[in-house]
Amino acid sequence: MGAAAAHYHQTQLGIIEHNQSKKERPLLEATMKERPKILVTQKVPDPAYPILEAIGDVEANMEEGSIWPYEELLRRGPGHDYIYSLLTDNIDAKFLETCAASTPRLKMVANMAVGFNNIDVEVATRLGIAVSNTPGVLSDTTADLAFALLMATARRIPEAERYLRAGKYKGWGPLLFCGAEVHGSTLGLIGAGRIGKIMANRARGFDMKMIYYDIYRILPEEETAYNVTYMDMEEVLRQADFISIHTPYMPATHHLIGERELHMMKPSAILINTARGPIVDEKALVRALQTKTIAGAGLDVFENEPAVEPELLTMENVVLLPHIASASLKTRTLMATMASDNIAAHFRGEPPPNIVNPEVLN
Ligand code: DGY
Repeated sequence: MGAAAAHYHQTQLGIIEHNQSKKERPLLEATMKERPKILVTQKVPDPAYPILEAIGDVEANMEEGSIWPYEELLRRGPGHDYIYSLLTDNIDAKFLETCAASTPRLKMVANMAVGFNNIDVEVATRLGIAVSNTPGVLSDTTADLAFALLMATARRIPEAERYLRAGKYKGWGPLLFCGAEVHGSTLGLIGAGRIGKIMANRARGFDMKMIYYDIYRILPEEETAYNVTYMDMEEVLRQADFISIHTPYMPATHHLIGERELHMMKPSAILINTARGPIVDEKALVRALQTKTIAGAGLDVFENEPAVEPELLTMENVVLLPHIASASLKTRTLMATMASDNIAAHFRGEPPPNIVNPEVLN
């Protein structure tokens, strides 16, 4: 590990320490022939590193908040057996092909995210490169944020706080910051996978009526357990007071919510997106907000992250967050160690628990 990587034993926010001694670590070093080379592309929570260090030589970007531009990633990637990537890394065909042609050959990309749309999985599979993600551990935390965003947008919390901080609050007023009612309203879920179902659980506490659309209808017993009613997408869009998106991003979900869909929504409706930006046509959303086709939006993700449509930044009826849905230190630490565990499993010759292209193992 290089000098830039030397600081990872530092405590993060005073909460997480990994004082695991060499003695306590799995002694894989003793049994292996060659230590694999592992590249970690961004600073991640501390406990991820000793798991990797126990099996191989780790090169890591340890500068907090630094994201390597594509050219740097392309320069640093080749010559590693394993790449520990983040959703900001563009692991495209050119990158994979270059790494597959290098020595040592790239064996696996372990993404520290549940979404893996930053990786060309088809090319990875063709090249025999395993790809893994970090599902499950972030579902509750992401649903928490999605619901917080729904509340913040409906009740105009950031806008009201900006008003108060600006010294404009001169006294209680009957019409001051009247927002949308949340309890008893209808929540429309687009996607009822792990996170969508938990969002339904959160909404249940607010006595909301829950309707959903998913390409795969969930089992009747799950519909009962989560108190959700299946409808086609048009009907969900027409009936819901809040639409919350919980689908993965893939070619089929690109601009799933565009001009046409926004026009199906109620003029009082609020759109919440904590999934992936390009699922919503951001320019169409700007127009819909400007023309009051819908009432508001709470966005944690953007079509061209980190860029945001400039008009959105000037609108009071939107709440904008920098992709933080899974950002609790506990959850990010679980995700970070999960990605390391996937690499360690592959190295041991076991199927990585969260492999997304298991066919490469055959
Ligand atoms: C993911 O994991 O895909 C989220 O977008 C970030 O936690």
